Amino acid sequence: MKLARPVYLAGTAITPFIGKGNPAFIMKGHPDFGRKENPSLEEHLTAAVQQLIRTYLPDPSVVDRGYVGNFAGELFCNQGHLGAMVARADPRLEGKGFARLEAACASGGTALVTGVDAIQAGADVVLVAGAEVQTTFRAREGADFLARASHYATERSFDDFTFPAILARRAKAYKETYGATDRDLAHFAVKAFSNANKNPLAHMHAATMTLDRAATASDDNPNFLGNPEVRDHLKVTDCSQVTDGAAAVVLASEKGLEKLSRPRTECAEIRSYGFATNPLGKVTNLLRLDTVAAAVREAMRDAGVGPGDIQVAEVHDCFTIAELLMYEAIGWAEEGKGMELIKSGRTTLEGDIPVNTGGGLIGFGHPVGATGVKQVAEIFRQMKGLCGAYQLPRAIGTGLTANMGGDDRTVVSMVLRNAS
Ligand code: CAA
Repeated sequence: MKLARPVYLAGTAITPFIGKGNPAFIMKGHPDFGRKENPSLEEHLTAAVQQLIRTYLPDPSVVDRGYVGNFAGELFCNQGHLGAMVARADPRLEGKGFARLEAACASGGTALVTGVDAIQAGADVVLVAGAEVQTTFRAREGADFLARASHYATERSFDDFTFPAILARRAKAYKETYGATDRDLAHFAVKAFSNANKNPLAHMHAATMTLDRAATASDDNPNFLGNPEVRDHLKVTDCSQVTDGAAAVVLASEKGLEKLSRPRTECAEIRSYGFATNPLGKVTNLLRLDTVAAAVREAMRDAGVGPGDIQVAEVHDCFTIAELLMYEAIGWAEEGKGMELIKSGRTTLEGDIPVNTGGGLIGFGHPVGATGVKQVAEIFRQMKGLCGAYQLPRAIGTGLTANMGGDDRTVVSMVLRNAS
């Protein structure tokens, strides 16, 4: 979508992303186990919105609209109606029009698109948040909730862990067609953990990963799927995390920046977005992410850039195979060559197209509804020099996001430019 009115990203907030494997996450063995609870969905969402207000939105009464990405609040937390939940975060937000958007793992991206559209329609200041809490159930039970992002009637029975199995089917097809190996895919996990180790907000901040461990099935890293058709093609280290967390951003028109007293130079501009959806349960080619390709193509076309212009990117690595296929859908690698790109090191922090600098969904974590919002926040943070130990060592002019719902069924892609 070419934007008729410029839209600026004027500020961002991200809560610590936590879950099993993060030292702050309270579970058996933690000193606070039995004495304190992990933050609830409301607490994560409120923390992100309040942090955004403290840092970038001193007068929240200027907000015209608000949107919240969340996938499964009712299932994991017995809580829906999250638009009205945001209004509890600060009394100055009361009376505003806020709504929740749901598009599986693209819920956050869809909330952002709706926020950008609201500015096209005349709003000047829009708050967009995303949040998810998924650790309230065991991973196997949570997998049933996450399976609601598939065509449940026909795809749920594929495996107890429906989504991991659906993406394992893609890994199997890719390996059989192009000769990729577990070791090739392991490079994505190693990059994710290595970046997360530099990011104090990341779920896997304190966990290390070696190529040998990620490449090899073991008691520590099992092929945990039940379906024998795909079992050998996915290990725990190929998967994104079951994470709790939230993110929030403030979007503004030119007039909105005046209301926020924010100079344009301290912002990023959302140059364009691509938004594409395809029928649930009807993937036609396991070797390609066609919906990602369509959304990214639209976003790049309308921003007037090509794959070679992207200086930093946040892509939806829900599983290692997904990041590989994203490289090809974006146009950085030909079909069948994505593993060469990861192995070249070009997408690491030291490379010329760094991808998922804070750890992505595998390292930073994947609180489903928050992910799309966190992606644009991360591009902003790289552009504005806010990334600390994983800050890229050069000026970043252009960034890209790709946020995917389900098995390549709903995709939002945005091109951002460092405002000057
Ligand atoms: N050998 C064999 N099997 C083993 C094993 C071993 N040594 N250790 C564990 N397992 C099996 C067990 O069966 C276990 O299940 P039960 O305990 O219920 O029997 C299962 O593996 C999982 O083990 P854990 O629950 O101990 O594992 P965990 O809590 O560390 O979770 C994970 C690991 C299952 C990979 C979990 O992180 C996960 O589910 N990740 C993926 C999350 C996901 O799918 N997110 C959505 C992404 S899709 C997307 O982004 C698009 C969209 O719209 C949805």
